[in-house]
Amino acid sequence: MKNQVSIILLAVFVTLSFACSKKQAEEIKPAGPTAVTTANVTYANFAGALFQTKCANCHGPNGALKTIWLFNGIASIKSDARVANSVLVTKTMPKGGTLTVSERELLQAWFDKGMPE
Ligand code: HEC
Repeated sequence: MKNQVSIILLAVFVTLSFACSKKQAEEIKPAGPTAVTTANVTYANFAGALFQTKCANCHGPNGALKTIWLFNGIASIKSDARVANSVLVTKTMPKGGTLTVSERELLQAWFDKGMPE
């Protein structure tokens, strides 16, 4: 009886471990059938989600820093050269956060291509 309980507990533990590690391994990558690369990166498949996740907390319409730069869509990025500068050149943004190497590469490619929608 004690053994059966142990086996059940072990099974539950293993299942939970798998579920958790899978979630933690997820990167901020766009959903969709094709992988996003520096060749096909757009606002819709990558950049929009990145700005929403990494910047909107502070710079979104309800953010405390909206007076310095208001993020409210692609136009608010296209119209302000400080955005690319702060993320890719001075790397002062996202403040208190980080971008992975691959996120930075994709973002650089997106700016280089002229910020396609
Ligand atoms: C935790 C809050 C926070 C987050 C997240 C954040 N910022 Fe900022 N941002 C600030 C603060 C504070 C300033 C004011 C300048 C400073 O303190 O560096 C600022 C200033 C800026 C400026 C104007 C500064 C300049 O260079 O003239 C831009 C543009 C900017 N942020 C873009 C972004 C972008 C793009 C992201 C996401 C990749 C981002 N920020 C994420 C807090 C944040």
